[in-house]
Amino acid sequence: MKIDIITVLPELLKSPFEHSILKRAKEKGLVEINLIDLRHYGIGKHKQVDDYAFGGGAGMVMMIEPIANCINDLKSKHNYDEIIFMTPDGETLNQKTSNKLSLLKNILILCGHYKGVDERIREHFITKEISIGDYVLSGGELPAAVLCDSIIRLLPGVLNDETSALSDSFQDNLLAPPVYTRPAEYNGLAVPDILLSGHNSNIEKWRHEKSLERTKLRRPDLLK
Ligand code: ADE
Repeated sequence: MKIDIITVLPELLKSPFEHSILKRAKEKGLVEINLIDLRHYGIGKHKQVDDYAFGGGAGMVMMIEPIANCINDLKSKHNYDEIIFMTPDGETLNQKTSNKLSLLKNILILCGHYKGVDERIREHFITKEISIGDYVLSGGELPAAVLCDSIIRLLPGVLNDETSALSDSFQDNLLAPPVYTRPAEYNGLAVPDILLSGHNSNIEKWRHEKSLERTKLRRPDLLK
């Protein structure tokens, strides 16, 4: 999979892809990430990318021209399956959306900033708008990193144990069960006996029950 990300803050987006699972996914050639600095498409001597909002009001708006030039330039070289804009008024990201996006070959992500982007970009260039939750961040970079992480960990070969993404919370509309590791007892706090029994089918049954219990208690909406 190839993910291109248009941003005014490429430095901010570098680090999430330089550690742990995402770093390994890149090294194994399972994903290619390109950060495109929107400034290169900025207007005039100052490489301007934003301007005052027509009609007044606080906050700057990202201009149509740099973004359109940037997207057109990229589109002349690549075919994108989706061009995604990260925005708090997009559809809220969930596991189902990440699963679907993980099947694509080529994604372009635009990170918003300031008061937003000129609406004409959203109308004519963007194919999908995604929010990572009902709160507002300073820009789309952290949301883009969240989206990429949720997608990349699903790509075949990225996780060592291929089944491990399948047992994530939300994959079957259930929260994940509790997990434990050594020691089996710590200051009188014991691990449930069943997990030490070696009886796989009973352990699976117990895990499923715990998942259900936890989901009912914390996220009953998922069971509807
Ligand atoms: N940009 C700012 N806030 C955001 C959010 N919650 N989701 C996606 N993009 C954003």
